[in-house]
Amino acid sequence: MQIVRDIETLREEVAALRAQGGRIAFVPTMGALHAGHMALVAEGRRRADHVVASIFVNPTQFAASEDLSTYPRREATDARMLEEEGCAILWSPDVATMYPEGAAIDVRAGSLGEGLDGAARPGHFDGVATVVSRLFDQVRPDIALFGEKDYQQLAVIRQMVRDRGLAVEIIGVPTQRDADGLALSSRNAYLTDDERQSARALPRALGEAAAAIQRGGDVGEALAAAKERLVKAGFDPVDYIELRDAETLEPVTALERPARLLAAARIGRTRLIDNLAVEPA
Ligand code: PAJ
Repeated sequence: MQIVRDIETLREEVAALRAQGGRIAFVPTMGALHAGHMALVAEGRRRADHVVASIFVNPTQFAASEDLSTYPRREATDARMLEEEGCAILWSPDVATMYPEGAAIDVRAGSLGEGLDGAARPGHFDGVATVVSRLFDQVRPDIALFGEKDYQQLAVIRQMVRDRGLAVEIIGVPTQRDADGLALSSRNAYLTDDERQSARALPRALGEAAAAIQRGGDVGEALAAAKERLVKAGFDPVDYIELRDAETLEPVTALERPARLLAAARIGRTRLIDNLAVEPA
């Protein structure tokens, strides 16, 4: 696996892969890789001939109060994991390479980036849309893989690709979880042992609410019960727990089409997000 840090070398290495023929899959990440990221690489290998991954802790998607400076960084371990999973190129630019001085292109996330995490993290999805659009311009992949774990991000990226008429096919990959149900996340590394125990309440509360709604239960009641469960487990604050249309992310009050139950809540100093599909019978 080639570790590439400048744009000229990236072009050469990607051109060399293209010369071998076949399709290129792309997996953008912020590093501190875990089995969730590896599932994206594995799916990329199944669907394409070569996988390019990137590691870039993107400053434009962190608000001033957030964890940019403390975000876990361990490139050597990450590179080993990617190599073992059969990744061909690791694109690892620094901030000046990704955002050359005076860079003018700024992508807006649009309406899908507005509620939910967009409300709790102003500007976050504009930063995501901007960096992913730049990464797509640099790598020019045939397909790109994103986790359903970040469901609103996946929706924002699908819309960005539609709006810009890009040729890249976006693939959503199901959320990878620990044995007790907690979604894998680089931020789980911040949790103390006690917080890690309490965090199990998040997937459980979502699972119960999703089951209740699928059985025909009242949506508002199910959401209120889930919120109460999270508060009892020590989550504070619960930023949101909401049922949204699986495609448009519009609020849903009665289950008629595929929906998504999404939540974000803080435990100690760590903010966790999760979501589940809710399908009408
Ligand atoms: P990061 O949080 O590193 O996640 C990179 C990719 O891994 C995203 O597509 C995310 O949804 C996916 N992922 C994370 N945890 C997962 C899990 N438990 N199961 C399945 N997939 C999982 O998301 C970002 O980075 C950034 O916003 C990025 C898209 C790289 C733009 O900076």
